[in-house]
Amino acid sequence: MNPLELAEARPGPGFTVTLDGRSLDVLPGRTIAAVLWDAGVTSWRSTRDAGRPRGVFCGIGVCFDCLVTVNDRPNQRACLIPARPGDVIRTQEGTGHAD
Ligand code: FES
Repeated sequence: MNPLELAEARPGPGFTVTLDGRSLDVLPGRTIAAVLWDAGVTSWRSTRDAGRPRGVFCGIGVCFDCLVTVNDRPNQRACLIPARPGDVIRTQEGTGHAD
């Protein structure tokens, strides 16, 4: 029995988003971070100085480790933002700005 069956959840119709051009299936109500995890992606940003990989750390919007570019807006916290149909998600290097 999967979690949806356990909770007797009846989510609405799914949709797709893209991550660096790759199409990902999404169940409604998921955050960007949940969508990326479900796709097997655990890091989507590199740090400014050392280029170290980052993804979710706190999962509650406090640490800012999960920053990602969504619809050309850099530095969005993936753990807080709900995925929306057609979102264009891009991995992010450093500040996410062209500097
Ligand atoms: S994981 Fe900490 S702010 Fe998103």
